[in-house]
Amino acid sequence: MSDFHYRDGGLWAEDVPLTQIAEQFGTPTYVYSREYFETQYRAYADALGDHPGLICYAVKANSNLGILSLLAQLGAGFDIVSGGELERVLMAGGDPARVVFSGVGKTAQEMRRALEVGVHCFNVESTAELDRLESVAAETGARAPVSLRVNPDVDARTHPYISTGLKENKFGIAIDSAVYAYRRAAASGHLEVVGVDCHIGSQLTELAPFLDALDRLLLLIDQLAEEGIRLKHIDLGGGLGVRYRGEEPPPVSDYLGAVRERLGDRKLELVLEPGRSIAANGGLLLTRVEYLKRTEEHNFAIVDAAMNDNLRPALYQAWQDIVAVEPDNGEVESWDIVGPVCETGDFLGKRRELALQPGTLLAMLSTGAYGFSMSSNYNSRPRAAEVLVDGERTYLVRARESLADQVRGESRVPEKN
Ligand code: LLP
Repeated sequence: MSDFHYRDGGLWAEDVPLTQIAEQFGTPTYVYSREYFETQYRAYADALGDHPGLICYAVKANSNLGILSLLAQLGAGFDIVSGGELERVLMAGGDPARVVFSGVGKTAQEMRRALEVGVHCFNVESTAELDRLESVAAETGARAPVSLRVNPDVDARTHPYISTGLKENKFGIAIDSAVYAYRRAAASGHLEVVGVDCHIGSQLTELAPFLDALDRLLLLIDQLAEEGIRLKHIDLGGGLGVRYRGEEPPPVSDYLGAVRERLGDRKLELVLEPGRSIAANGGLLLTRVEYLKRTEEHNFAIVDAAMNDNLRPALYQAWQDIVAVEPDNGEVESWDIVGPVCETGDFLGKRRELALQPGTLLAMLSTGAYGFSMSSNYNSRPRAAEVLVDGERTYLVRARESLADQVRGESRVPEKN
């Protein structure tokens, strides 16, 4: 049985009916299944098997402390991209020695803090960043563990906004200049070269681009070894896709099986940074129909969730399934599901076949990744509540924002004199 399933005419999260969650916590609310996150994490850990390495969950996909803590309890590592994400991992009980620090714009302050707590490594994205890291490390007397993020110039064949491994993207060091950057890092007494990484994009549904990137990285690793620069690990980033609609991404075991085979008997630890494939289908967004509005062109259902809660449809024209929590609800028609925000782009789904009345409870599926974490207060809307379900238990892992939360830190100005 899947973690979100129909039982007794209604949709449930594990052993809790979603109608109950809506009643208790209100809407819009993100609902997560603990079981799902655990299963997905374990799929990676099991596929890694006895090969030394780390599964570093990409915190940006869903950075709720409840989610991070359950992963920390399973021994997960974490991929972070900011000082804020680092502090979240620490608060959730994550082990800093299992943290890889990615991102193109690390500040000196963020580097200092990461050195202080002892992260596994910095995934360095440019020679300018290498210079900054070296001087921060020198200042603190530490030796910074470094992996260089190389841009292997492969086409991930995914949405252009989430494709990152092409020459034209801002990410990483071009693979042709990587050797020079490695020499430079290896010559520094304040840097310790430990690995190489790449991340070619997100929502990949085939293995070939991952394996192309891997082959290019392995060539680089061999070239570096000839110069006496020996790497301990290879980090292939995240990117494995999920099923939103008809996609059929390869299972984790196929992916890691193919990677391990290519690595052969090289003494290289394997690091991965999965986000979406652990989180996306572990969450849904619960929302209620406020109004129905029929025009000559369309039937609109105005719901209480909006683009500020889930930006993916507006930003990437992403398709995520929207289902009725209690489907036996009268005549099915075609509806555009839209939010209350003052933007034409504020839609959650178009032309969805549903039976709707004012008050109908809907669930937008596959929203556990890049859902809440990309939400905002646009239109001064409070960010949604987040509830984690564990069997028959529910945990409010984030209370709905209050007005006081929203205006904290703001102030009025005195009258002009
Ligand atoms: N590692 C790095 C360096 C990344 O930049 C990312 C995602 C990941 C790992 C995790 O990738 P995943 O396994 O989740 O594909 N907001 C977009 C996705 C942006 C992904 C950014 N980087 C969306 O909603 O589709």
